[in-house]
Amino acid sequence: MTDKREIVLTGDRPTGKLHLGHFTGSIENRLKLQKEHAGNFFYMIADVQALTDNADNPEKVRNNVLEVALDNLACGIDPTKATMFIQSQVPEIAELTIFFLNLVTVARLKQNPTVKTEMKQKGYAENVPAGFLAYPISQAADILTFHANLVPVGEDQLPVLEQTNEIVDSFNRLYGKTFERIKPLIGTHARLLGTDGKAKMSKSLGNAIHLSDSRKIIEQKVMTMYTDPGHIHVNDPGKVKGNVVFSYLDIFDKKKDEVDELKAQYKKGGLGDVVLKKRLAGVLEELISPIREHRESLAANPKEVMDMLREGTKKARKTSQHTLGEVKERMKINYFA
Ligand code: TRP
Repeated sequence: MTDKREIVLTGDRPTGKLHLGHFTGSIENRLKLQKEHAGNFFYMIADVQALTDNADNPEKVRNNVLEVALDNLACGIDPTKATMFIQSQVPEIAELTIFFLNLVTVARLKQNPTVKTEMKQKGYAENVPAGFLAYPISQAADILTFHANLVPVGEDQLPVLEQTNEIVDSFNRLYGKTFERIKPLIGTHARLLGTDGKAKMSKSLGNAIHLSDSRKIIEQKVMTMYTDPGHIHVNDPGKVKGNVVFSYLDIFDKKKDEVDELKAQYKKGGLGDVVLKKRLAGVLEELISPIREHRESLAANPKEVMDMLREGTKKARKTSQHTLGEVKERMKINYFA
């Protein structure tokens, strides 16, 4: 640890409820950081970014602003420690984005591995919305508007944060030292597999267990989990490697000795998938049920949540206005100051 001031900023796109992959990939990290950096922790609901590929679906984005706020609050993000705000309501971020657009080439954006993968998933090719192609630039503005230097994200976001550091370097070179390079922080299990065992857990792939799922839904989803297709009869020897149920038990089951024993038994033969799946459903229910209950009590008062976001946004704007003043001075566009 250094004694220089550390400021944390992180956020979610409001496009759906959060799931276990978000929990292991970033929320656990957020909880730790909000404790260590109380007062210097910003949590942003990235509605502008969500609109870059949902321009035709503003209802979805609007509705999910509350959902992601609830998910984070339910997990323990605490508005007395974290400044929680809505991106679109801080216009300075958009202003800074415009200035940063001049510092990055289109070729560079097209090479960004995260953007490339997402463009392929969405089938954009050359018809990519300019705002989507440029989202790493607006994400740099999200972060640098608050002079944040620690950014907890999922592993897939690393190339986006690299873009931020390139912008920091260009800006400082052209206009004088203004921003600091940032450090990404990746969660412990950054790439949680989906229930299908084929890909990372994702809202869009239908392989997610949500932090708001009921006990029954959790059970149903666990029952469909990919195990070992060669393990047909209980007495057949089974494979542990690549078996999603075991990879989840490794992450979420605290009784490691018992899991090791179960693995040995499974490999030998004589242990059925259903027994394992019931155990996993129980473990996940234990993790999710307090979150779900907290979420339900918060969801009973949506106005309170929106008021909290309004206050957080007001506070965020104090910082953002200050930064933009500084930026305009450096860029020599502070005519009336
Ligand atoms: N792109 C991030 C995601 O999809 C969300 C996000 C927007 C973000 N702005 C941010 C994360 C700034 C960290 C910092 O998960």
